[in-house]
Amino acid sequence: MEVIIQSSQENASVLAAQMVARLIRSKPEAVLGLATGSTPLPFYRELIRMHREEALDFSAVTTFNLDEYVGLGPRHPASYYRFMQENLFEHINIRPELAFIPDGMASDVPASCLEYEARIRDAGGLDVQILGIGSDGHIGFNEPISSLASRTRIKTLTPRTRLDNARYFATPEEVPHHVITMGIGTIMEARQVLLMGFGANKADALAAAIEGPVSAQVPASVLQFHPRAHVLIDEAASGKLQRTEYYRHVFNNKPVWQQVS
Ligand code: GLP
Repeated sequence: MEVIIQSSQENASVLAAQMVARLIRSKPEAVLGLATGSTPLPFYRELIRMHREEALDFSAVTTFNLDEYVGLGPRHPASYYRFMQENLFEHINIRPELAFIPDGMASDVPASCLEYEARIRDAGGLDVQILGIGSDGHIGFNEPISSLASRTRIKTLTPRTRLDNARYFATPEEVPHHVITMGIGTIMEARQVLLMGFGANKADALAAAIEGPVSAQVPASVLQFHPRAHVLIDEAASGKLQRTEYYRHVFNNKPVWQQVS
């Protein structure tokens, strides 16, 4: 795991976008795993800027989103489908038929989860998975005690996650109880993982994930087993970490060939 501490969310997001842009330029048919929430917004803005100003080409890229609320259709303002259209897809030249999001309206949820997994496999697997982190350490919507080997499936949200996400809904009661999420096993098969976390309210979850024991109580801690995981955070989010000096030293002393920007 590589922990990269930047002075601001903006700087960390630009760095993450540079890493993804480099991947797309070297592999135009790259397969990206994407995330929602407030965390990746500046990252998406930078990808859009690169598309407009630096001709970053998404025409052969395939994307798979992590998760979706059960019962929310594509037009619901809080659906992740809508989030992705508004915050990324409408602004780049991605082919709509290559941008996949779990189907929150599926009549047969287990079958649609199996199909989602098959689609990822058929696309050749995820080259990189973008992740945020929940205040309880969840990734995607894999809440604490999710199996570390889980695949795409239905999950029940914790009251805390429903409350955290209530800001996207007209009233807190409207937040669905159920979601479809890629599993932790699915995420772990991505060839690279980029987790972003910003702000003091993520500091505890990040400290537990990065420096705590690997445990299903903190789903993001499983990334300690990932051979190529980058964690990009800002100062506030690094507040509870013990080894920040070492993380900074590593980043500032990388061999040139290993530098990320
Ligand atoms: C939701 C999403 C996660 C995201 C988390 C954090 O639960 N399913 O993928 O990481 O929210 O959200 P935010 O980035 O808004 O803090």
